[in-house]
Amino acid sequence: MIFRLTEEQVAIKEATREFAQQVLLPGVIDRDKNMKYPVDEVKLMSEMGYMGMLIGQEYGGMGSDTVSYAIVLEELAKVDAASAIIVSVNNSLFASGINKYGTEEQKTKYLPKIASGEWMGCFCLSEPEAGSDATHQRTTAIDKGDYYLLNGTKNWITNGGTASAQLVIAQTHPELGHKGINAFIVESSQTGVSIGPKEDKMGIRSSDTHSIMYNDVIVPKENRIGEDGFGFKLAMKILDGGRIGVASQALGIAQGAFELSCRYAKEREAFGKPIAQHQAIAFKLADMATDIEATRHLIWNAAQLKDADMDYSKAAAMAKVFASETAMKHTTEAVQIHGGYGYVREYHVERMMRDAKITQIYEGTSEMQRLVISRDIIKGNLYDPITF
Ligand code: CAA
Repeated sequence: MIFRLTEEQVAIKEATREFAQQVLLPGVIDRDKNMKYPVDEVKLMSEMGYMGMLIGQEYGGMGSDTVSYAIVLEELAKVDAASAIIVSVNNSLFASGINKYGTEEQKTKYLPKIASGEWMGCFCLSEPEAGSDATHQRTTAIDKGDYYLLNGTKNWITNGGTASAQLVIAQTHPELGHKGINAFIVESSQTGVSIGPKEDKMGIRSSDTHSIMYNDVIVPKENRIGEDGFGFKLAMKILDGGRIGVASQALGIAQGAFELSCRYAKEREAFGKPIAQHQAIAFKLADMATDIEATRHLIWNAAQLKDADMDYSKAAAMAKVFASETAMKHTTEAVQIHGGYGYVREYHVERMMRDAKITQIYEGTSEMQRLVISRDIIKGNLYDPITF
């Protein structure tokens, strides 16, 4: 199968590459070191349309196809993975679910603000005691007739400190298990919503990650997304799309580390010749290139299935687990190729190695991706091309 980008996709790729070099690169080391949120950079990403790529044009978004979206995230992450996840969460985890399953009122009220960058969005599923085991929600949204009363705590919320609107998953009917879970739009300014301190993380340090607490928050009935009890399935559908986003972020990190390693290996000499001429290094570059190519194919395959409105859960899971493990493996190799220089901030690859780690954890750990894939195998899908 040959993947060819359209002229428009090539143009988006080139424009984003230039944007990342000019806007994201100059401050990336400082933002990482000092945990500085990219305030100006996010404004400029909004102007480029990135914050609303998955929002329909009728609501002010770009209405992009998923391959274009993956390309943009890859190019942003190649330079600054933290900025890429800000875009990814805004689009995949907050906006896309409302764009597809929200009421007309919800779309008109929230999507134009998100697309323009006036508001940011976040996705609140994980809890202190429910991460991978997402059906066991402790946060409750009790039906009080005209409204729901929301109580609980959410953890590890990307964009948690900057988001004005949140997509919150909560248990409404505990006796029904996952069938009693709902999804709601909550505004961060509402009485009873409080935001914890910014997490001091290993990687993607400039993105803001917080816990969020809800204490008797009144959520209007019209803020529920979808039918009563649709919340868990909605969260899973949202995460299927999010996993293409994180896979693209991981691909960008791997591609960035690969390009820096190639450049360094051709310049740095040892034993009388560039280290790229030594097989020990040349073969590392070959393995990087091969895994990156395979990753891109998995991602674009999942993206095309999504755009064709076909089931893409397992394809997204495969893309995410392979991309994140490629990123971790090859950023580690990139540090090795750079030797001592790789261990200091100035050469970027140590940051890429730290940033890569989270792609194996958030939006479903590698173990959860393998669970999704293995359940499909056990059901009888042996991944023969005719049945795939
Ligand atoms: N699409 C639609 N429905 C789905 C689905 C999907 N992809 N996956 C599962 N479902 C449905 C099932 O069909 C089932 O419904 P029925 O009973 O009606 O058939 C229901 O959801 C429950 O599914 P399971 O029985 O498979 O549930 P499970 O408890 O075994 O869990 C899981 C499945 C895949 C492990 C899921 O819990 C999961 O993905 N966990 C990881 C959660 C996760 O990714 N968390 C990250 C949070 S976001 C984040 O990282 C924060 C951030 O800001 C970046």
